[in-house]
Amino acid sequence: MATPVMDKAEATAKTDASPYITVTFRIRRFNPEVSEHAVWEDFPIEIDPKERVLDGLHKIKWDVDGTLTFRRSCAHGICGSDAMRINGKNRLACKTLIKDINPEKPITIEAIKGLTVLKDLVVDMEPFFQAYRDVMPFLVAEGNEPTRERLQSAEDRERFDDTTKCILCAACTSSCPVFWNDGQYFGPAAIVNAHRFIFDSRDDAGEQRLEILNDKDGVWRCRTTFNCTDACPRGIEVTKAIQEVKRALITRRF
Ligand code: FES
Repeated sequence: MATPVMDKAEATAKTDASPYITVTFRIRRFNPEVSEHAVWEDFPIEIDPKERVLDGLHKIKWDVDGTLTFRRSCAHGICGSDAMRINGKNRLACKTLIKDINPEKPITIEAIKGLTVLKDLVVDMEPFFQAYRDVMPFLVAEGNEPTRERLQSAEDRERFDDTTKCILCAACTSSCPVFWNDGQYFGPAAIVNAHRFIFDSRDDAGEQRLEILNDKDGVWRCRTTFNCTDACPRGIEVTKAIQEVKRALITRRF
């Protein structure tokens, strides 16, 4: 059987239909072994606008410059490891489509703010995770070991449903101006995770967590700027959760 041959016009039309466009990734690079200053570096790449910023970073790392350093794991918005500032806004690289952020201009990419940059887009997450550990992010149930599952009504579960969605990406905490100015502040993510247990009807350590957050670096430092709510890639109402913790501290009802 004769093999179908593409004529020249067809081939040109196919080339013209290519979804690829040239997009410049402008990345803030930092390597403490080379310089104490960060520099912006441009990487023009061919990419389908329907691809994600993470795909572009992979192209650069795999095909252009293997020294580019960033974190990622799941690539599907679950692990929370690739939060970064993209065009000045905290986002997950794996959930940000090129076409949604004006690919006609260079896309600026830099590390999240308020945490020490170790290299390129990688920051030291330890202060963030220390604040998380400090609020006791686990169920504390007193009394005898139950012989069966601890039951909870749908209404009681609903009380803290929103804050269970946190993936600890630090997009909220590192978008908070209070955290930028004073890294001692617990930050929105730690408070969100405290909220998740304070309002859990099965938990018995709510008072303890509230006392931890009733600290000069605790929940009262929040200035209600809503940056955290805007930054959350999971759509958690972070500022609302912080306000609920403040209210619980005043009323001691939760
Ligand atoms: S790589 Fe896991 S959330 Fe983006």
